[in-house]
Amino acid sequence: MTFPSTPLAVFALAGIAIEAVAASLLHFSTAGLFAVAAASATLLVAVWLLATARAEARQRRDMEERIERLGGLQVSLLSAILRTLDLRDRMTARHSAAVARYSRELAAAAGMPEEQQDLAHTAGLLHDIGKFILPDHILKGNTQLTEADWAEIRRHPHEGARIVSQVDHYQPVGEVILAHHERIDGLGYPRGLAGDEIPEIARLIAVVDCYDAMTARDSYRRPIGSDEAIIELRRVSGSQLDPRFVELFIGMLENRDLSYRHGQDADLETALAISNHVRARTAAPG
Ligand SMILES: [Fe+2]
Repeated sequence: MTFPSTPLAVFALAGIAIEAVAASLLHFSTAGLFAVAAASATLLVAVWLLATARAEARQRRDMEERIERLGGLQVSLLSAILRTLDLRDRMTARHSAAVARYSRELAAAAGMPEEQQDLAHTAGLLHDIGKFILPDHILKGNTQLTEADWAEIRRHPHEGARIVSQVDHYQPVGEVILAHHERIDGLGYPRGLAGDEIPEIARLIAVVDCYDAMTARDSYRRPIGSDEAIIELRRVSGSQLDPRFVELFIGMLENRDLSYRHGQDADLETALAISNHVRARTAAPG
């Protein structure tokens, strides 16, 4: 047997009890006394149910608040790692902010729902977080990189996915991070996935990651202009990059001003603020 637990049902039971007491007082008899006893028992059950329902609601609220606080702490921890990375290597942080912004807009241009746009933004922001493990001489690129150094650099998708996947509900972000250096022709890393085996958001991020790496001042190479980068995107379209996202992104670049094409105003703090806003919106009830 299940007891009604909503306050409405409790009030209904209390109403029945009060009615029975009133009736027994009007018609004093053995049956009346029995009705008073039954009514008292019903009233006690009603009070007990009300107290139980309140305690359960309080426990649920406490649990939700604790989960929300824990989620906030975990995301704050990721933000702290990004800020630390920013202190060590400003270029990677600026690049992450630019990739986050471009990725969200490209996801919107591809007609993806808002949830996917949020995933593109967060994964774009965190896609290179695995570079946190790299020693300064590699991260800052002030010495000639050896083959061993490049092997270390190629570990960053795996390391990034490992860090991020430990945060509750961030497994999809981890999957995108793990796959952001895969290639359509299967010659990428770390798993050599090909075509549709690569998560769609990872294919999208690969396009903007590639563009921003070419056009921004980077530790590893000198930047090229946006028009030259567009030619290069088309050259590797279909082998390295997904042609659908390449053409959509080029369309976006061609309709924007020069500052957008160079990602000049990409700012880590702004990108982090958007990410926190998204988290708050996602965590809001309803
Ligand atoms: Fe990367």
